[in-house]
Amino acid sequence: MMTDRIAGSREMQAALRDHFQKIYGSQDDLRVYFAPGRVNLIGEHTDYNGGHVFPCALTIGTYAAVRIRTDRRFRFFSVNLPGDGAEEYSLDEIRSGPVPPDSRWTSYPRGIIHTFCQRGMVPDRGLDMLFYGNLPAGAGLSSSASLEVLTGFILRDCFGFPADNQTLALIGQYSENHYNGVSCGIMDQFAVAMGKKDHAIFLNTSDLTCEYVPLRLEKESLIITNSNKKHSLASSAYNDRRRECEQALKELQTVTDIQSLGDLTMEEFREYQHVLSDPVLVRRARHAVSENQRTIQAVQLLKKQDVAGFGRLMKEAHLSVSRDYEVTGPELDALAEEAWNVPGCIGSRMTGGGFGGCTVSIVRDSAIPRFIEQVGAAYHQRTGLDADFYTVHIGGGPRRLDEEPAGRGPAAQEPAGKEQGGKR
Ligand code: GLA
Repeated sequence: MMTDRIAGSREMQAALRDHFQKIYGSQDDLRVYFAPGRVNLIGEHTDYNGGHVFPCALTIGTYAAVRIRTDRRFRFFSVNLPGDGAEEYSLDEIRSGPVPPDSRWTSYPRGIIHTFCQRGMVPDRGLDMLFYGNLPAGAGLSSSASLEVLTGFILRDCFGFPADNQTLALIGQYSENHYNGVSCGIMDQFAVAMGKKDHAIFLNTSDLTCEYVPLRLEKESLIITNSNKKHSLASSAYNDRRRECEQALKELQTVTDIQSLGDLTMEEFREYQHVLSDPVLVRRARHAVSENQRTIQAVQLLKKQDVAGFGRLMKEAHLSVSRDYEVTGPELDALAEEAWNVPGCIGSRMTGGGFGGCTVSIVRDSAIPRFIEQVGAAYHQRTGLDADFYTVHIGGGPRRLDEEPAGRGPAAQEPAGKEQGGKR
């Protein structure tokens, strides 16, 4: 029914309203909301190590049409998963949780409602909710965080709860940690909740201070390439990495007074690394430390408009997650390596948690058709998979759309390939 090609907010809203009516019987008193997905430009697996990250919000994400009910029941329907039908719960069922970390997508919004209740923000009525996401599924562009922050935003808007956007991010992370089995850091929820159009967010995860850095790419574009190898963070590998970093920190704390791996410079790390009991821990900690330093340096370069320097650090960052952190796999390595070979590709690296998902690349505009052609063909040859390419735009954070003046909503994303060859 709705496709990624719907160009503007008005068409999207109309389509959501029609769909809502089909499922829930009327369109009266409907509110329409949006929360973005995110892409991380550099600073991977640093957010649970007290380091820096540099993500930005996208103009694609998750939409919801919502009506406040007169009773205390919650109904959830996903346009993306119509076969699941509408799931219905009473507030008391959700509230008395804990929400089982089941594989149903509704465990995300249920986890958020449960967490609000735990914090004393108890809705006095239920909601009919219809969701639609236009992020590629399982691609590591934070569809989960988008859904979490969106649900929190809706609760705040409908019931007037006192939760600012940073609190919505923290509630999202808490809920994902406790109800969805992923010990994720704060990056994704923060990027989604705090997104700003045309800016990337330089976030220090040790104290949540952040700076918005304008991303002025004049002759280049950001291209996301979906490996179409589904990633799953709940797969224990993500949590394993986190545990390995915690172990490395504990061992390093026997010789130096640090709170997190992000406190170390590379010189300090080299001085102390001999205490680490296992070569795997050395590699994991080396990534966490070097990636944090790279991120700080990359942002400095970008502020000086040194896009080429930023691109070089993207490549180093990829090599570090590949060799030291081991979260890429053959698909993401193939995409990044092939991208580096294309003249006009300024930088490319995997983005997000890894184990499948996407790469992000900075590509000179004139080189985009060749980039898609060459990377797509070589990737297919190496993996047997077809990649999808998207030119992305940096958008704002969560918002209510039905109260915005026409035309200000998040424009839906155009797959790059629609004009330029796209899917291979
Ligand atoms: C996932 C997690 C984030 C972060 C990234 C890796 O996206 O949700 O918290 O750890 O992986 O940088």
